[in-house]
Amino acid sequence: MKHWRMDDVPWDQFDPAKVDPELVLLVKAAAMVERNGVDYGTYLNRVFIDDPDFRAAADRWSVEEVQHGDTLGRWAMLADPAWNFEHAFARYKAGYHLPLLEANASVRGSRTGELIARCMVESGTSSYYSAMADATEEPVLKAICRLIAADEFRHFKLFYDHMKRYLKRERIGVWHRIRIATGRIGESEDDELAYAFHCGNQAQDAPYEHRQAIAGYMSRAMTMYRYHHLARATGMILKAIGLPPRGRLYEVAARLSWWFMNRQRRKFNRVVAAAA
Ligand SMILES: [Fe+2]
Ligand SMILES: [Fe+2]
Repeated sequence: MKHWRMDDVPWDQFDPAKVDPELVLLVKAAAMVERNGVDYGTYLNRVFIDDPDFRAAADRWSVEEVQHGDTLGRWAMLADPAWNFEHAFARYKAGYHLPLLEANASVRGSRTGELIARCMVESGTSSYYSAMADATEEPVLKAICRLIAADEFRHFKLFYDHMKRYLKRERIGVWHRIRIATGRIGESEDDELAYAFHCGNQAQDAPYEHRQAIAGYMSRAMTMYRYHHLARATGMILKAIGLPPRGRLYEVAARLSWWFMNRQRRKFNRVVAAAA
């Protein structure tokens, strides 16, 4: 059972005067990555082939991710009636394939590792939609982001609970877990988001330039974040690794993350400015 349906969104409250065009660029890209969740569901089904409980949970999870995509896509078409989600998504699918679609075992080396990587993604998405809900003045997007963020927090809990179960069996060490976590965070600068930003926002004949596209996406996404959004995500990341999510380590990690995000944001801003 999904926790909400597209019809629960108060679409009639849409206020075009309150649309921030910078956020529209992000929503279009996010819509495509979310909609692509169905491919990840297929992969998880193969990785956890003999675990029917988890496979059923992964199927429900991917249905929710696809709904995130469809809802964001519908909002983006309200905000920009010239934009067509189906066309943009077809273009994305034609040019981007999840690199792990053919894998039969986790590309993270273990099921625990796979679930830690999923926890990283859900820490990222829950903070992202929380930040977007706070950043937008447009009431429908605000409502959508709150619904999606609540799902993403639940998704984190889902993967975290299964990860704890596998960790007892696979016993991978804390340094290994840190490597998997930081590796997955670093992958956010790969093609998945960058190419979605390109397909959502660039003209059909514009060449794909990874550096430009990821900078365009990240500079805007990082501008939405406030300290508390990132701090909460940092606590979740520590928890997924198996480190204390509160206390001295957390405080230092949250401040370091904030410093690092601001440095990255300035770097991406320079790339965007140089291209303009
Ligand atoms: Fe999502
Ligand atoms: Fe999610």
